[in-house]
Amino acid sequence: MCYGGRAGGKSYAFADSLLLLGRQKKLLIACLREIQDSIKDSVHKLLADRIAFYGLSDYKVYEDRIDNRVTGTRFIFKGLREQDSQKIKSLEGVDIAWVEEAQSISKRSWEILEPTIRKDGSEIWISMNRLYENDPVWTAVAANPDKRSWIRRVNYCDNPFCPEEMRLLAEKCRRENPENYQHIWMGAPLSQGAERIISATDVRRAFERKIASTTSPLVVGLDIARFGDDKTVFCFRKGRLVTGFESYGGKNNVEVANIATNIIEERRPVRLFMDIGGQGAGVYDILKDRGFGEIIRGVYFGEKALKADRYFNRRAEMWDKINRWLGELPPPELPADEDLFDELTAVNKKFDGRGRLQLEDKDEVKKRLGRSPDKADALALTFAEPVYDYGMPKLYGNGKVSVEEMFSLAERGKNSGW
Ligand SMILES: Nc1ncnc2c1ncn2[C@@H]1O[C@H](COP(=O)(O)OP(=O)(O)OP(=O)(O)O)[C@@H](O)[C@H]1O
Ligand SMILES: [Mg+2]
Repeated sequence: MCYGGRAGGKSYAFADSLLLLGRQKKLLIACLREIQDSIKDSVHKLLADRIAFYGLSDYKVYEDRIDNRVTGTRFIFKGLREQDSQKIKSLEGVDIAWVEEAQSISKRSWEILEPTIRKDGSEIWISMNRLYENDPVWTAVAANPDKRSWIRRVNYCDNPFCPEEMRLLAEKCRRENPENYQHIWMGAPLSQGAERIISATDVRRAFERKIASTTSPLVVGLDIARFGDDKTVFCFRKGRLVTGFESYGGKNNVEVANIATNIIEERRPVRLFMDIGGQGAGVYDILKDRGFGEIIRGVYFGEKALKADRYFNRRAEMWDKINRWLGELPPPELPADEDLFDELTAVNKKFDGRGRLQLEDKDEVKKRLGRSPDKADALALTFAEPVYDYGMPKLYGNGKVSVEEMFSLAERGKNSGW
């Protein structure tokens, strides 16, 4: 089975391979789909075009079939819905059945077809653009594949022959309507029930927005890498304005703590929320030791939510805060960053047995995204707790700020732009 989005090269690859195999030995090849009102609906034309393109003069193209005059191979074309249990018997001698557009195959058609392709060494080739999670053929073949099944996802980006025009269409769709992009171009099924927690439109709107200045205090979110390929990310947010992200790879606890120390001393955040689920605990201890206990707060993503009746855990609660924040008008501002976009719009929500909002498993997100949503998690951390503006950064107590400095900070007073 090959599945995926548009222009992945599925139909061409199947057509070319079958034409090649049919030149090597005698095969009966059935090209099948759910409904075939006329031969025009079938892959007859594609095969004929490829024969012409390669100049395969051993093939003879008839109205309703294609024969190879040397090997005796024959291609036939049928709609499965028109087959009753009598007619389907004509398919029993088939060596290869190509089921094209298999997302449209009904459960009934599949149940008739599968036992019919029974000849020794026979194969069913399936090409499909998944429609729903539970397309009958997908459920039967790919949901729990056995050893005899070969299943590959192919998309336009994997197709070396993908026409430039298609690529441009795909990229346009990716920018303008990411949900559709996932389905049409990346082969993801339309989800029924599950949906993204954050809407792509809201994120795009925040990318467009320009906030001239803000008097809100700086809050930093720090997501610390848990695995080798994850990134340690700082997110900087002042109220409705996210001023930026900084990402680091391959840093140990002391190095991360040093970077955090610089940030605290130079940019004077009122709070730095950090994930202390994994490595973070070590960094937290170092920073606390250095006297930043007033500023830093540790957060476990998995811990009980502040509003435990509404959220499954802290992470769901923080992500929902991002969602609400993005939905407010006038919109907040995010740096236009495509990685951030992908991460924010990759996460599905669900509800637990008690009706509490929950995020889908991180493994699922990782599969979809190819990495952890580190930037989005860093942004989520800036929403860990409400932060009140006391007008000055709390740096005292760590010995790094002089008394004079403290007083001069205090004089600048409330809403002084920190
Ligand atoms: N072997 C090839 N040689 C030349 N061009 C190719 C080849 N394979 C694919 N293409 C080009 O890529 C395009 C997409 O391929 P194809 O139609 O096979 O994709 P698909 O996965 O079946 O997509 P869809 O879901 O839209 O049916 C074709 O229209 C053709 O332009
Ligand atoms: Mg196709």
